[in-house]
Amino acid sequence: CKINTYDIVPLEKNINIITERLFENPKFSKDIEFEQVLIGELNKFNDKYFPIPEFKYKVKQKLIDENKYGREKENMFLPVYKDLLIKYKIELLKQNPKTFIDKWYFKNITNEINFIFEEIKKVKNSNNKNISALILSRTMRSCRATTHSDLATLAEPVSKIYYCSKHGKICKPVFSIMKWWKTYSKDTIKRIKEFEKLKTGTYQYCLSGDARTIDIISALSKKQKSFADILNRQKISGIFSSPPYVGLIDYHEQHAYAYDLFGFKRKDELEIGPLFKGQGKESQKSYIEDISDVLNNCKKYLKENYNVFLVANDKYNLYHEIAKKAGMRIENTFKRPVLNRTEKDKGAYSEIIFHLKEK
Ligand SMILES: C[S@@+](CC[C@H](N)C(=O)[O-])C[C@H]1O[C@@H](n2cnc3c(N)ncnc32)[C@H](O)[C@@H]1O
Repeated sequence: CKINTYDIVPLEKNINIITERLFENPKFSKDIEFEQVLIGELNKFNDKYFPIPEFKYKVKQKLIDENKYGREKENMFLPVYKDLLIKYKIELLKQNPKTFIDKWYFKNITNEINFIFEEIKKVKNSNNKNISALILSRTMRSCRATTHSDLATLAEPVSKIYYCSKHGKICKPVFSIMKWWKTYSKDTIKRIKEFEKLKTGTYQYCLSGDARTIDIISALSKKQKSFADILNRQKISGIFSSPPYVGLIDYHEQHAYAYDLFGFKRKDELEIGPLFKGQGKESQKSYIEDISDVLNNCKKYLKENYNVFLVANDKYNLYHEIAKKAGMRIENTFKRPVLNRTEKDKGAYSEIIFHLKEK
């Protein structure tokens, strides 16, 4: 989907029609209006109690107890929020949710998502249909009922305003997908246009499968025979990859909304280094096995003098062992600070890019 070629004009037209239909649907108007009024009230409140940059400066200088002050102001704003909920008859989370979507999305958001998904199904051009679904899935990721700092690792659903340490003010969950649908539509089209300019006459294909075992040539043969033949003949010069790290993220869980909506089959058991298995010694051991299995599998398709670049936050120093097990050596390491993390409040974070070559 990401690497396809698109006819931009009809794609933009299609997306604009969907956006208009969402906007004009009276079923969604009260929640959109509610959110606008809430944003207005929050802006006034935040200007008064969380002035920029004074507030963050005072927190840094320890002149303000951030948690205590944040909680106080949260409680001060809550009645305004509750009154607006009643005035606009806003319904929030479902009781006894059975699916991920029921648990993590407000009722209006679920209705908007379903509405857009039905509109997308009507799109005739299959490429345009797929990229519109991708825009919807990016939108959904930003519309879960959670705080800004828990976007990457969901804790519990949040249905009220809260003090947000990431932004240093009172923030709110999302009540309508409109803003994010528009944002990601624009951003996705911008990326497609940029990528179109960079494309060369080469082939690209995105295969999904377990990297430890996938037979790249035969999987690709089923999709694009001519490309598979070239690959078989010339082999692969190198890999640039950002693998999962040990015990950091449950990827299936993080994208559970997409499995729910699009009906994809989950394969949790194939995930390398999932968060639910932790970062203990046993998990580290299986991580070393798994990543070296991936590299050994890839080697079947690599040229003799290959280059492999892996980005990792190797805090347990596992990559020396991984390289050894894969019959590789670490040629070089490059440090890469990660500045724009989803979770801004979780401290400095940097990654290493390992350059690996045959031993
Ligand atoms: C750090 S993320 C990199 C995401 C990547 N840069 C992208 O844009 O999709 C690591 C990815 O590895 C995937 N992964 C985990 N176990 C895998 C396996 N056994 N085979 C293939 N991919 C796996 C995760 O689902 C996740 O998407």
